[in-house]
Amino acid sequence: MENIDWKNLPFGYIRTDYNIRCFYRDGQWGDLEVSTSEYIDVHIAATGLHYGQEAFEGLKAYMGRDGKIRLFRWEENARRLLFSADGIKMAGLPVEKFREAVFRAVMLNKRFIPPHGSGASLYIRPLLFGSGAEVGVKPAREYTFIVFVTPVGPYFKGGIKPVDMLICREFDRAAPKGTGIFKVGGNYAASLRAGMAAKDGGYASAIFLDAKEKKYIDECGPANFFGIKDNTYITPKSESILASITNKSIIEAAEKMGIKTERRQVPVEELAEFSEAGACGTAAVISPIARIVDPEKNKVYEYCRDGNPGPVTMKLYNKLVSVQYGEEPDEFGWTTIVE
Ligand SMILES: Cc1ncc(COP(=O)(O)O)c(C=O)c1O
Repeated sequence: MENIDWKNLPFGYIRTDYNIRCFYRDGQWGDLEVSTSEYIDVHIAATGLHYGQEAFEGLKAYMGRDGKIRLFRWEENARRLLFSADGIKMAGLPVEKFREAVFRAVMLNKRFIPPHGSGASLYIRPLLFGSGAEVGVKPAREYTFIVFVTPVGPYFKGGIKPVDMLICREFDRAAPKGTGIFKVGGNYAASLRAGMAAKDGGYASAIFLDAKEKKYIDECGPANFFGIKDNTYITPKSESILASITNKSIIEAAEKMGIKTERRQVPVEELAEFSEAGACGTAAVISPIARIVDPEKNKVYEYCRDGNPGPVTMKLYNKLVSVQYGEEPDEFGWTTIVE
């Protein structure tokens, strides 16, 4: 603990003091339990292990300049977990239970919240999985919900430094009408081949295209994509991507700041028309993209030629981050003080 280098934290796991657990049995959720163990005892026939009945969330707590701890839009994560649970036929966790578990996990691990000004935050990982035994392919009758926390730095190494991304045409993350809209483990397993190919090539992430036509941008690994053209923020509409809470917030902020927004299909060729491009998400925050490489079409799209993020990206980044860290009043009602 004493050795944590807050300014150079990776996006990785560091042990904290406590995690929260809750179990669904006999048709109802039990009381929250506090644990100091990093391990769980799981039935060997749990549906979460065999059939991917698992969903998770990711949100952050930020230490403000005023010494207050802020959570960003936790209710949106609670609702999305309900949506994901329904998508793969798991028992849904009530929003109030989610709130209680997240707040307790943050308060019990308060000493792990990175100090203000370090650029880091406390990542909160709620997860829900089928823990009841089944051998046939069907939903479990028992579920386990866990919340653990860990201090993190930005997901893409550069932070606000522009990164390169690789268009992946060989593998799909999710099919239309599949589970891409849910935050379920299977989508991430499906993304690993592309993700590793991108990393091995020196790219920060793979960019997935729509699985059916391979014509439109879907998303950037674990983040939504956006492009900027004529003071307009453009982000893909697709039935196989995760509805990013960060993206939704940026759209709201952009509109207030006089930047137009469009959520619509984004053809790959349109990459040539953007003056800026980026990825956004809880982990990615806003990561500007320097270059997008499409090896199969022998194309390279370049942004940030001077090595710096573009002006619109910077404006949006500053707005988002200053609300999250309590550096300016939260005119949107996005943050909740945890005490
Ligand atoms: C596949 C995927 N897309 C987008 C996002 C960004 O979503 P959010 O802004 O809600 O974190 C995430 C991260 O949660 C993700 O895993």
